Amino acid sequence: MTPTIHAHRSALIHSLGDPTETGIEKSFEYFEDGLLIIEEGRIVAVGDAQTLLSSLPADASVTEHSNSLLCPGFIDTHIHYPQTGMIASYGEQLLDWLENYTFPTEQHFKDKEHAASVAEVFLNELLRNGTTTALVFGTVHPESVDAFFEAAEQRDLRMIAGKVMMDRNAPDYLTDTPQSSYHDSKVLIERWHGKRRLHYAVTPRFAPTSSPEQLALAGQLLSEYPGLYMHTHLSENKDEIEWVKALFPERSSYLDVYDHYKLLGERSIFAHGVHLCDTECQRLADTDSAIAFCPTSNLFLGSGLFNLPKMESYKIKVGLGTDVGAGTSFSILQTLNEAYKVMQLQQHKLNPFKSLYLATLGGARALKLETKIGNFEAGKEADFVVLDYNATPLMSYRLEHAKNIEERLFVMMTLGDDRAIKETFAMGRSVHQRDAN
Ligand code: GUN
Ligand code: ZN
Repeated sequence: MTPTIHAHRSALIHSLGDPTETGIEKSFEYFEDGLLIIEEGRIVAVGDAQTLLSSLPADASVTEHSNSLLCPGFIDTHIHYPQTGMIASYGEQLLDWLENYTFPTEQHFKDKEHAASVAEVFLNELLRNGTTTALVFGTVHPESVDAFFEAAEQRDLRMIAGKVMMDRNAPDYLTDTPQSSYHDSKVLIERWHGKRRLHYAVTPRFAPTSSPEQLALAGQLLSEYPGLYMHTHLSENKDEIEWVKALFPERSSYLDVYDHYKLLGERSIFAHGVHLCDTECQRLADTDSAIAFCPTSNLFLGSGLFNLPKMESYKIKVGLGTDVGAGTSFSILQTLNEAYKVMQLQQHKLNPFKSLYLATLGGARALKLETKIGNFEAGKEADFVVLDYNATPLMSYRLEHAKNIEERLFVMMTLGDDRAIKETFAMGRSVHQRDAN
């Protein structure tokens, strides 16, 4: 039996490159009446419907999407699933927020059943918002990571996650030891890394909560297994940076702490990087490390304004992160809305095609997954979303006056949220339908 071919007909857009490098025109492909052809969960072709329809075999099925825009699934390069239930916690900046809200919330993830129930809510929320891949913090408990990967595996999603390593400067109920964190991470790596669409990230929370011994063992894990990710926080808040200086006086910068323990590299993703000096930027670029830009979180915690043009000037890979629960939305559209404002406050513009890139192919590149996901190139996995131009009365009304796809995109990114995600697909299968019953 030959595998079935399925096609989706709609207006369709995807990124081909970073507009900063290619120029706007060459950075994307748009088909007003497009066709996306899928076989066994992978993309076979994308192009003009009129041209491609005639090439379809007789038994191929075609789904038509009206008043819609198809684009690749969104990629969230930094998020905490255990913080789903504490999103929108009032009043603090980073260090007090961690102590007063985050740590007490995370203690409950020792209970695997609790972790599993939150993982379900979390994955539903990602898919409701059109996010098909995420780089995810667990808690210090290995149970939290098992629960997350089990839920992601069941839905056949491409996800990256890891157990938090933290052995100091946190409540006793939430700390491990260098040895136990090394051992527990190893067991999880053996169990999950490379299974189906899952990858493991070695996850020291941030420099202040790890001893030198623990950071050394994190580096050792990375050297022992090829293809592992490294996921942590960096230079988010000024008090945090002062604290790192006091804890590691012999290191020349916050990034240098991680560098010393061999935690930089092409699969290393640092959340925030709001207050980086030139030397740190150069080192991130030289090691091909990536930054997760988390605008809703940076504004919510009053951390500061991320300098995207500076990162571009150093050619540092950048993806978008929601950073829920410090971030205030699971929606990458809303994250782009806030990213635009962060740029405005620094007298810079965020072009809608650059936004599309950051949300899709740029995120894939930051995660070194660009050969698998991020756009509609033939052979890639068919993770995509159907955006609804009529998601709200205001959006319909506003789009009546939109001149072109650039304006449409910008309106979707400014007004859009979960209501704009009509359907989400992973490996060609529908995994979320907004209007289901
Ligand atoms: N730095 C260390 N831990 C965290 C966390 O959970 N959230 C954020 N935003 N920053 C952190
Ligand atoms: Zn975070």
